[in-house]
Amino acid sequence: MVNILIHQFQPDGAVVDASALEQFQRQWATYQKLVDSDELSHAAVGALLRDTLNRSFDRPFAFLDIACGDASQMRALSGTKVRHYHGVDLSEPALELAANNLKDMPFEVELDHGDFVEAVTRRPEPADVAWCSLSIHHFATDEKLRLMRALHASTGSLLMIYEPTRQDGETREGYLQRFRRVNQPRWTMLTPEEWAQIDHHVTTCDLPETQAAWLDLGRQAGFSKARELFQDPTGFYRMFRYDR
Ligand SMILES: C[S@@+](CC[C@H](N)C(=O)[O-])C[C@H]1O[C@@H](n2cnc3c(N)ncnc32)[C@H](O)[C@@H]1O
Repeated sequence: MVNILIHQFQPDGAVVDASALEQFQRQWATYQKLVDSDELSHAAVGALLRDTLNRSFDRPFAFLDIACGDASQMRALSGTKVRHYHGVDLSEPALELAANNLKDMPFEVELDHGDFVEAVTRRPEPADVAWCSLSIHHFATDEKLRLMRALHASTGSLLMIYEPTRQDGETREGYLQRFRRVNQPRWTMLTPEEWAQIDHHVTTCDLPETQAAWLDLGRQAGFSKARELFQDPTGFYRMFRYDR
């Protein structure tokens, strides 16, 4: 069933700012190189997401994907009982890619152009499952908690996230040093300019938590169970599951 709705901030279709579009395309192309070479373990995480959903749901369910980006990983949902997929992202070009990536999926697709904090806070009908990959870590710890509380209130069954994670006892500065030491020699698919762009982004925007803190945030938000499901081979990214 193909039924894609993109809800816009500006339904009159304001002209996209050319420099913002160019910036998106440059940054997205760099991120895409990492995804295409599976440096962020999207393939393993997608497969684990599908298996977890299949073990948890033998009935149709609604799935909320905050910061869905181009939703390329969500092709993994095709083998599940998802009946309704709701993706939210701030970037309109990313949502256009998402619409194309999901156009042949056997479930209803709704895409919202907007801020996911706002979308989660005002969501009138709870989703059964909420998912966030590689986006919550931009928030300060108290903002993460506020968002996870809102996700608890709007999620019927479970929340899963995949996010950068500091090692036990590691400071943010220690994390950044490890990030550069491990990834700069690994990510040979990036040009020096692209590496500099990623390094700048991680240094200025990323606020990873430790495993204990990610689990504790879920419990403080009201989830009854919190556990780690996966750690990527490089040790930077982990997947967590929170049950109501
Ligand atoms: C690193 S990408 C992750 C995309 C996808 N979830 C994945 O794992 O490949 C981060 C995405 O978060 C979106 N984003 C960041 N902050 C947001 C916000 N406050 N509301 C909605 N989307 C946001 C960006 O536009 C971008 O598409």
